[in-house]
Amino acid sequence: MKFFIDTANLSEIREADALGVLDGVTTNPSLMAKEGITGDARVMEHYKAICEMIDGPVSAEVIATDYEGMVSEGRKLAGLHPQIVVKVPATENGIKAIKQLAKEGIKTNCTLIFSSGQAIMAAKAGATYVSPFIGRIDDMNYDGISLIDQMVGIYSNYGFQTQILAASIRNVKHILECAEIGADVVTSPLKPLKGLLNHPLTTIGLEKFLADHKKAQG
Ligand code: G3P
Repeated sequence: MKFFIDTANLSEIREADALGVLDGVTTNPSLMAKEGITGDARVMEHYKAICEMIDGPVSAEVIATDYEGMVSEGRKLAGLHPQIVVKVPATENGIKAIKQLAKEGIKTNCTLIFSSGQAIMAAKAGATYVSPFIGRIDDMNYDGISLIDQMVGIYSNYGFQTQILAASIRNVKHILECAEIGADVVTSPLKPLKGLLNHPLTTIGLEKFLADHKKAQG
């Protein structure tokens, strides 16, 4: 299972990378805006800075919604750094753009996936990753994890090589359920990622070990 961090915040990326278990980074226009990264030149510099910080794929999203615009933006993003994966929305134009970018050997991440139908289309177009947004599905009172389950089944039926990148992660439980089902990648904010380590018995046990050691030393 691969762990990506879902942020454009450099200090969070550095902190996750320091754990030694980080495999990649995903961003989106909202995450870039949250960091105050505006203007084409600054956006491009920021993507490059992320690529230089970590050893792994970095998803950078296109803003265009028309086919030609998505393809030309995708080429530009991919040209920035070999680690860039071009994030393209699961629309009709997006699927066509993914097909074209895949033909050119450019890696893509089909984003805003909310159904297994969209996931099939993305895989058939040759997307490297698909990003089902499980937290946003849960927010609508549907079950995001069951979408991951369906996708794992469908992809395995046909041997699709597209990797399932579970996104819109809200908590540790989401990560663990994705792991049980067999999602290839989980992209998470820093808090749930670090939350995987939390257990009160570890804290209590360590305190007791250290107290006993201190006592024994006199
Ligand atoms: O990067 C895409 C996705 O992870 C967004 O998550 O929390 O905005 O639904 P969220």
